[in-house]
Amino acid sequence: MRHIPVPRTTFFLNDLHNAVIQRRNNTFLHMDTPWTPSTMQEHQRMDNFDLDDIPANRSQAQPFSDIVQNVASRRGFLKTGLGLGAIGFFGLGLSACASASRIGYAQSGLPVFDPEELKAFTGIASSTQDTITLPPGYAHAVINRWGDKLHTHSPAFKGDASDGGDAQAQQIGYNHDGMHFFPIDATDSQNGSSREGLLATNHEYITPHFFFPKGVEPGKQGWSLDWVRKSQHAQGASVQHMRLNADGRWERVLDSRYNRSINATTRMELVGPAAGNRLARTKADPEGRHVYGTYGNCGNGFTYWNTYLTCEENFTDYFGIGEKNEADADYADAEQKAHLQRYKGSEKTASDDYRWDTHDTRFDWTQEPNESNRFGWIVEIDPFDPQSTPRKLTALGRFKHENAAITLADDKRIVVYMGDDQVSEYLYKFVSDGKYDPARPEQNRKLLETGTLHVAIFSDAQGSDDFAGTGRWVPLTLDTIALDGRRLGDHFNNDLGELLIKTRQAADAVGATPMDRPEWVAVHPATREAYVTLTNNKSRGSDKARFPGGPAHPGTDGANPRESNLYGQIVRWREAGGNPSAMEFEWDIFVLAGNPNKHSDLRAGSSNITPDNTFNSPDGLAIDPRGLIWIQTDGNYSNKGEYEGQGNNQMLVADPVSKEIRRFMVGPKGCEVTGITWTPDMRYLFINIQHPGEGASVRDSQESPVAISTWPDGPAATRPRPATVVIWREDEGVVGTFPEARSA
Ligand code: FEO
Ligand code: CA
Ligand code: CA
Repeated sequence: MRHIPVPRTTFFLNDLHNAVIQRRNNTFLHMDTPWTPSTMQEHQRMDNFDLDDIPANRSQAQPFSDIVQNVASRRGFLKTGLGLGAIGFFGLGLSACASASRIGYAQSGLPVFDPEELKAFTGIASSTQDTITLPPGYAHAVINRWGDKLHTHSPAFKGDASDGGDAQAQQIGYNHDGMHFFPIDATDSQNGSSREGLLATNHEYITPHFFFPKGVEPGKQGWSLDWVRKSQHAQGASVQHMRLNADGRWERVLDSRYNRSINATTRMELVGPAAGNRLARTKADPEGRHVYGTYGNCGNGFTYWNTYLTCEENFTDYFGIGEKNEADADYADAEQKAHLQRYKGSEKTASDDYRWDTHDTRFDWTQEPNESNRFGWIVEIDPFDPQSTPRKLTALGRFKHENAAITLADDKRIVVYMGDDQVSEYLYKFVSDGKYDPARPEQNRKLLETGTLHVAIFSDAQGSDDFAGTGRWVPLTLDTIALDGRRLGDHFNNDLGELLIKTRQAADAVGATPMDRPEWVAVHPATREAYVTLTNNKSRGSDKARFPGGPAHPGTDGANPRESNLYGQIVRWREAGGNPSAMEFEWDIFVLAGNPNKHSDLRAGSSNITPDNTFNSPDGLAIDPRGLIWIQTDGNYSNKGEYEGQGNNQMLVADPVSKEIRRFMVGPKGCEVTGITWTPDMRYLFINIQHPGEGASVRDSQESPVAISTWPDGPAATRPRPATVVIWREDEGVVGTFPEARSA
């Protein structure tokens, strides 16, 4: 057993034991007992188990796994769909009662979530059609296609993709991902107008298949500096002013001063502990404080002070060795080699999708060894100030960021949950030093500059048989003791900036738990329980090294219970005392995705997976103000073999308490469904369709761009185009309600 540093708060065994006994005597132990107002009251009494009342005493602390072992077992999760999480270890049930310190959308006017209605809604069938499929009563429209004008004066999109770099800088970018609707009169990024707002949208990456005209391939034929610029201008984020017109359609306000392309050439500022660090300095920026650009912008977040968070994910794919041979490309020293390989693996070259290193030497790591340290951050953007300089938030750590899910601690410190999306990487949490005060907006804008980054260690009950357990957050500070008994400061030159640039290595040093590719995190607006999509991990249990010189991919554990995990799962946790800044949590698996058409073992999934709602690779995730969970997929859409019956990528809805899941929407061919936001009145839901028509080689796709998909332009299409889809109910009701199912 490895020794794991114990964070500040620990428990007396007796207190935990009593809590366990209390639960055992409680009716919630009957797994099929439904939540009712009276059980809620009973449940709330258990809030008396107050962590702050428990003195820390290491010698008497009992490993969480022992406690869990007493109470946890699979307990029919596979049969009933209910896991131990319905009980809870801290006297708090997962997904049971609302917290007093609720923050989020004003819920007045929104119908209360009705679990019976969701249960009555049968969900839609899977589909392999090249279209958007929705339940009866729902309609959709396409907005903000790649290449659409961003401004009145923007050049019109050329259907053959021959638009150059200058044109792309004035048009909507490629491969939309995370997104947020800011009401035009927003005070906290959320509340305000449902008729007019700023839509901030990530543009994650480009695929040369459709992005370049026939005959242009990165680094190969037809390649030039202008194609590099076009690629750079299509990635990052866009801000688009939107308005609901008299016909009930969302239209773009093209002459708005807010419209903006923030891309891989936009000047930005590094803020927080790594700003100015020796590892952030380059020839062009000897101070290490200003960076050009953001790209690889995957999921997103928003703050409570009207700013957008865009998250840099696969930034290492853009760094290469120019025109050199691999044999001639050497790392500058052992530090650069170990560090670059920890993030990029042993691959020296840039991805064939980009090849910016051919014309922009800062992307050649042999020439500019520190440029890559200036990416892999979360970037804060003020959409309401088109002149503002985006800020890279180094206190939130550097890794392949998926999204940023914000919530408030009891004492009003800001908490941000984040996943590192690569096989067998980690789950993180940032807790700000300062406190949120709605009356002090300027002070709030500094909140993400200083605080403590933590990484999660999950513990499960004995063996890998239990889909619930406890966990702890280990602070990644200079004084934290690593597994080797040394301070993290000793590992990182007593330099917090260096530690944050090397976040993954710091997390390795404290024994963080490798997860099955953490994608989006979402926080329930009332209970503050957090959910993370673990999309899949084909490497779990393999004997391959996780990174050069690193350990092999781990075997299974409770939260990651399948080797060669094709389907993914959603894990949720509730912090001790229900307080997001706590150092311990309890967790359970909300759903183990799987395919009951093919399997009857764990690969069939948990009991809330049926032939009617089967899916793979959960990715995008949100919980709306009514508490309905929205799950988006980015997985295998072959509809064959292991994926038989699952169809195209899709979006599902789920009840956090009953765990019932229904398929709500299916996307067109070859796409992923991602990005989700809504108007405050929940009458309009916005989602993104990324990489429609994917599935053939670059050459074949350029030869015949509409062979797989004509979405969204239909018969007139010259090529598929990533775009935003707005969804509404034809009866003007709330999206996520199903009155017709009730009356059927
Ligand atoms: Fe960009 Fe992890 O998906
Ligand atoms: Ca994603
Ligand atoms: Ca994904």
